[in-house]
Amino acid sequence: MQRITVVGIGADGWDGLAMESRRLVREAEVVMGGKRHLETVPWAWWQVRVEWPSPLAEALPGLLEEYEGKRIVVLASGDPFVAGIASTLVSIVGPDDVEVIPTVSSESLARARMRWSFEETSLVSLVGRDVRRLLPHLAPGRKLVVLSSDGGTPASVAALLVAQGYGETAMTVLNDLGGLAESRTESTAAGWKDRVSAELNVICLACVADASRRSATSSVPGLPDAAFGSGTTVAGRDARAAALARLAPAGGDLLWAVGPGAPSVAIEWLRSEPLASAVVAVVPEEVADVKESAADLGVPELRVVEGTGPEAFDGREAPDAVFVGSRAADAALLDALHDALRPGGRLVVHAVTVEDEAALVRRFGRHGGELVRIGVEEVVAGETATWTPRRTLVQWSVVR
Ligand SMILES: C[S@@+](CC[C@H](N)C(=O)[O-])C[C@H]1O[C@@H](n2cnc3c(N)ncnc32)[C@H](O)[C@@H]1O
Repeated sequence: MQRITVVGIGADGWDGLAMESRRLVREAEVVMGGKRHLETVPWAWWQVRVEWPSPLAEALPGLLEEYEGKRIVVLASGDPFVAGIASTLVSIVGPDDVEVIPTVSSESLARARMRWSFEETSLVSLVGRDVRRLLPHLAPGRKLVVLSSDGGTPASVAALLVAQGYGETAMTVLNDLGGLAESRTESTAAGWKDRVSAELNVICLACVADASRRSATSSVPGLPDAAFGSGTTVAGRDARAAALARLAPAGGDLLWAVGPGAPSVAIEWLRSEPLASAVVAVVPEEVADVKESAADLGVPELRVVEGTGPEAFDGREAPDAVFVGSRAADAALLDALHDALRPGGRLVVHAVTVEDEAALVRRFGRHGGELVRIGVEEVVAGETATWTPRRTLVQWSVVR
C-alpha cells in the first residue's frame, strides 16, 4: 500500500492553505474528500477527483485499493485526527503509510473564540452519534466543546440539557468558524427554543446544573437504582459500586457481563472509563430495555447480546474483566468465563442464594481471591424510623 497524505483544510478553503499543503494537493494524482472540500481546490486535468460515497467506512478500503500505486491526497477539515478520517485511514493502511498535515481544528478555533484554555476544556464529538453520548461528560462547572452532526444538533443538545436539569447551562454556538460567514449565537439551554444554526457548527457549553441533578450525574460508580430502566439493575447501588471497584475499569479494557444486575454493572463500567467497552448478555425480552437504559445514561455503545450462557460471548475478543450476577452455582458458566479472561483479568461474582453462596465458598477455597459479605441497612422513612436490612449479598472476586 502506498503512502496517503491527508491535508487539513480550514473554512477559508484553498486561499487559507499553506504553500506546502497546496503543493501536495497539486501534485497528487488522486484527490479524495467530501464535496465541500473538493469544490475548494482549483481544477487540474491530470487529477482524478473522488467524492466520498455514503456510507464511507465500508467503501474506503475498496477505494484505496482501486487507486493503489497512485499518489493519493485526502482532504479533511481542520486537524484530520480530531474526529476525522485520519484514524480510519491509519486503521486500514497502518501508521507508517499515512502522513497528516493538520491545520487549526474547529476545537482550537472554538476555544480561541471562547477564551477557554485547553486545560479547562473537554472535547466531545457527537458527529454521527446519538446526542445522549454527551451525558457522561456533564458535570457542574465543566466546559465542553461539542462537535455537532449538523444544524439540528444544537437544538437537540439544548433539549437534552433541559431534560437533565442543566437548563441554566450557558450555550454558545459557533457557526462556520474561520469562514466569511462566521457567526455566533448565545443563550442558556432553556432559552434556546427555535434558534437556527449553520450545518457546520460547534457548541460550547459552560455547564450549570440544578441542585437536584448534582449527585445524579457523577461518573463514579454507584448511581441510584432509580437511574436504571427495568431489567437493568438488581444488585443495588452499594453492591454495584463494590463490584466496579474490583472490576477496576481502566483504559481500553473489555468487560463481559451476564446474569441479574449485569446490565447496570456494564453501564457503570462504560460511564467510568470512556475508552472501555462492554458486552452484556441478557434474555431476548430484555434487550430493548437494556439498550434504552444504556442510551439514557449516555453509553449507547454498550453491546447487548442475547443469551444466558458462555456461548453468548462466542467469537468476542477475550475480556479484561467479567461480572456474573447470581449464577454462582452454574459451574460450567463460571469455569468458561474464568478461563476466557486474559491473564491479570478480574472476575467478580455475586450470590444471594444459599446454593450460590456455597458454590462461591468452594471456589474461594480452590482459587483464593477475595470473599466478602455485603450487608446494607437503610432507614425507611415512616411513622417510626427503623433500620431495614436489604438482601445480603456475597461477592467473590479473583484475579486470573
Ligand atoms: C467530522 S468533524 C471533523 C472535525 C475536524 N477534523 C476539525 O479539526 O475541526 C466535523 C465537525 O467539526 C465541526 N467543524 C468543522 N469545521 C468547522 C467550522 N469551520 N465551523 C464550525 N464547526 C466546524 C462541526 O461540528 C462538524 O460537524
